[in-house]
Amino acid sequence: MIRAFRFRSLVLPLAALAVLAGCERPPIESVQTGYRGTGMQQLYNQRLLATQTSLNAAPAPAEAASADGPKAKDVYQNVKVLGELSVGEFARNMVSITQWVAPKEGCTYCHNAANFADDSKYTKVVARRMLQMTQHVNADWKSHVGATGVTCYTCHRGNPVPNQVWFAPADKRSTGALLGDLEGQNQPSPTVAYSSLPYDPLSQYLQDAKPIRVNGNQALAMTGDAANRNSTKQAEFTYGLMMHMSQSLGVNCTYCHNTQSFQSWDVSPPTRATAWYGIRMARDLNNDYLTPLTGTFPANRLGPKGDVAKVGCGTCHQGAFKPLYGAEMAKHHRELQGPLPVTVAAAGAAGAASTASAAPASDAGASGAAGAPAAGSTSAAPAAAAPAAGATDDNKVVGATN
Ligand code: HEC
Ligand code: HEC
Ligand code: HEC
Ligand code: HEC
Repeated sequence: MIRAFRFRSLVLPLAALAVLAGCERPPIESVQTGYRGTGMQQLYNQRLLATQTSLNAAPAPAEAASADGPKAKDVYQNVKVLGELSVGEFARNMVSITQWVAPKEGCTYCHNAANFADDSKYTKVVARRMLQMTQHVNADWKSHVGATGVTCYTCHRGNPVPNQVWFAPADKRSTGALLGDLEGQNQPSPTVAYSSLPYDPLSQYLQDAKPIRVNGNQALAMTGDAANRNSTKQAEFTYGLMMHMSQSLGVNCTYCHNTQSFQSWDVSPPTRATAWYGIRMARDLNNDYLTPLTGTFPANRLGPKGDVAKVGCGTCHQGAFKPLYGAEMAKHHRELQGPLPVTVAAAGAAGAASTASAAPASDAGASGAAGAPAAGSTSAAPAAAAPAAGATDDNKVVGATN
């Protein structure tokens, strides 16, 4: 008797705990962001927000260095990206990237201590490309990163491998063979916030340029070319991506959508257009910078299918609506704003300098949306809501002129 009673007295509180575990302890604050009745509001938990804020504080910039004096390219042997910096600025950059990427490991995380010009460590080869990637984001993707921009710290936060990266997941076996192809559903995955949605929407949308918009252009069943893409099945992949985006930014759907019409750009808040560019930017970084580095990384850095770690929304945002809540770290580093202009009056100088403002030529290539133009409303760019007018071509980086 006593035993049974004891058992029950333990089970009840445990059961209550299990039920309540899904709830958040108050106070919850609700902030209205649109018309009443449209559900346009964001919910914030004060306690979680406090933790989030402290995790997303930007470190102070290193003391400024003079741009005068001899240039790095004239003093060092093997500089290919930062040669136009003064030796002082160059040293400041090395100190900063060490602080941002490998503070525990120090200079030798990338360098052979006996010869700093040596490129034998893969980390140095990757870091050189990362310098170019960061310049590219700040110069050519202003449509997304605005004046805030990015530095190595935006993604790395003091770690060699950023906290939030993604790989193509290993193929999972169907759990119940009776029900046929699960299309990757009911396989809990952090990518889609553990929802029962297809577990790999990112390969389709943040690497391949599969159409994301699934809303039909006519009532009832779709016909023709769009039929298969504008389906309930495809909508689940789209929702998977939307879960990734919401979770990465720490927001809910109405941060970018008006529940009156999820597909209409006219009623969507401007944040949706920023997100549209973000999707194209992530694709561009994955296809033009990370994937080509696959062979440079050692096997232990690759995913279950042998692919390199890739960038998602969370790689920069890490739970904040703007990375580091909009701290403008990049402005303290002219070498990260874009390819450095060549200042000596040499023959090739003008050409090199002009690349800073050119649109990324490669964007129309692998990362472009294959077959998107002329496919009707489902693949059209957010013309109305776009920050720069005329974003009608899926392949163009309109914001490069912003
Ligand atoms: C995250 C990787 C990384 C870390 C950490 C790092 N460096 Fe570098 N370092 C590089 C890269 C990449 C280059 C080449 C830059 C280029 O090509 O423009 C370089 C080049 C150099 C060079 C020029 C060598 C030559 O003769 O070509 C010196 C000197 C240097 N680093 C010093 C340092 C010092 C000192 C530290 C520590 C405070 C440091 N680096 C930390 C990546 C790193
Ligand atoms: C947009 C996000 C992003 C930015 C910005 C960024 N990186 Fe990276 N970095 C990555 C990703 C993703 C990887 C791949 C992770 C891995 O190593 O497996 C990576 C890997 C690296 C590695 C290899 C680390 C290792 O141990 O394998 C180095 C070194 C590095 N980055 C340096 C830099 C430097 C220096 C900068 C700034 C000039 C920079 N990164 C900016 C996303 C970024
Ligand atoms: C950070 C902004 C953002 C958030 C948060 C967001 N979305 Fe989206 N959503 C977009 C963008 C941008 C597109 C269009 C993508 C494209 O065309 O490339 C889109 C497209 C869609 C579509 C397809 C509409 C069509 O025309 O077929 C649906 C449905 C959708 N989102 C639902 C959701 C749901 C549900 C959530 C919450 C779980 C959500 N979204 C959260 C930005 C967002
Ligand atoms: C390379 C880093 C990086 C990546 C990757 C990235 N973002 Fe951003 N994002 C930024 C920066 C920086 C800002 C701040 C821009 C500003 O201040 O104008 C920003 C701003 C935004 C905003 C506007 C927020 C506001 O309140 O104005 C949205 C929405 C957004 N990002 C969505 C996304 C989505 C969705 C993805 C993934 C598809 C993504 N971002 C990937 C760096 C990034």
